Amino acid sequence: MPKDTLTITDNRTGKTYEVPIEDGCIRTKALNQIKVDENDFGLMGYDPAFLNTANCRSAITYIDGDKGILEYRGYPIEQLAEKSTFLEVAYLLLNGELPTPKELEQFIHLVTHHTYVHENIKTFMDGFRYDAHPMSILSSTVAALSGFYPDAKHTKDERSRRIQMTRLIAKMPTIAAFSYRHSLGLPYVYPNNDLSYVGNFLAMIKKIGTTNYKVDPVLERALDVLFILHADHEQNCSTTSVRVVGSSEVDPYSACAAGINALYGPLHGGANEAVLRMLREIGHISKVPEFIRQVKSGEAGSRLMGFGHRVYKSYDPRAKVIKRVADEVFEVTGKNPLLEIAVELERIALQDEYFVKRKLYPNVDFYSGLIYEAMGFQAEMFPVLFAIPRTVGWVSQWEEMVKDPEQKIARPRQVYTGYKRRDYISNDKRGAGGAR
Ligand code: CMC
Repeated sequence: MPKDTLTITDNRTGKTYEVPIEDGCIRTKALNQIKVDENDFGLMGYDPAFLNTANCRSAITYIDGDKGILEYRGYPIEQLAEKSTFLEVAYLLLNGELPTPKELEQFIHLVTHHTYVHENIKTFMDGFRYDAHPMSILSSTVAALSGFYPDAKHTKDERSRRIQMTRLIAKMPTIAAFSYRHSLGLPYVYPNNDLSYVGNFLAMIKKIGTTNYKVDPVLERALDVLFILHADHEQNCSTTSVRVVGSSEVDPYSACAAGINALYGPLHGGANEAVLRMLREIGHISKVPEFIRQVKSGEAGSRLMGFGHRVYKSYDPRAKVIKRVADEVFEVTGKNPLLEIAVELERIALQDEYFVKRKLYPNVDFYSGLIYEAMGFQAEMFPVLFAIPRTVGWVSQWEEMVKDPEQKIARPRQVYTGYKRRDYISNDKRGAGGAR
């Protein structure tokens, strides 16, 4: 009868250990018993960037990277993108089940009635320079919310937790829109409770010189679908940041501000902005082969932005949906001239041995920037448009972490590679460049 265990022989000592296997994992802590002698701390796992380390148990999002599968609470992303709405998906991620009509109505009401921010938030945001990146305004403002809601520190209190989670989901579009208007020197537009979550956001972004701005329903639905696709993605860099910071029992605003900062980076949520810059630099379809050559040779450190993924080793299922949304949006806005370059890049890359061998396929960011640009957003807003829906994932994962009795303050180990103990040398006895 096969056993769910792993037998390890330590060739340094000849001793054998039996370690349980649970859900395809061994507990790295179990390696700790493997010692050369009693002064030895014990064997550790070394895994820079967590390539093969599970940090939690989670029942929220499932990804099979080889097969290109993404599911929220068991529901395939393709079905949710086709049939659901962003707030329904938000409810699903937060609560584990799709809402009944009554539950959805109550949830929409709750979110809609938390969209306003304290007037001092506006003053706070006004302190930023006119050219501040909206992502830095967003992260600072979200961090500042903990100063406005001191009850948020009661992270063990379910009622308080849920209030903060709702506040954050509801206020993100408002703060995001204010950060956008600030960067353009435009007056802030207050939320309108008669509009949908996405419709209200678009109105706060676009409304100028009119009281009856109408949101185009095709663009409203397109952004709603993009929000569904970005709502969660299990233990990615920003979500892990939220969990790690949240593990210190800090309030969720501070934890989510850490997530926004992580998302800002060009290898994560900043990638769609980087894709647009890359397409502009390439400039013309005829320059695509030369660009691909530069990427492959590693010249100037260029990467094909919007390609590759730590988990997906096949086509990102979100990218497939986005391609369809792009067609619908371009019907309304007209084609983005950079699309031609993007399609050619994809065509060549998908046949090229370099990309095929490394299983590099378009990811969610490859086409999303083109859609956002066609909708009239500047590139700086792209990561902000990612952060709004991802807030739902962050708070869902944060609450799951808070409720998980196995979790503790995150504190990895290290392999120390510095000097062994040495004695202090007084300044007059040191050579140039340090003690010699
Ligand atoms: N262009 C060219 N080569 C690449 C690329 C790329 N976009 N991505 C990976 N590679 C190569 C890399 O050079 C390495 O080659 P070699 O084995 O010869 O050294 C190999 O593929 C494996 O790459 P890696 O850096 O070890 O892979 P990773 O899992 O650490 O990185 C990634 C994943 C997403 C950071 C990376 O693919 C990348 O930098 N992509 C471009 C940025 C991007 O589009 N990011 C958005 C990710 S999806 C949205 C999100 O979740 O935020």
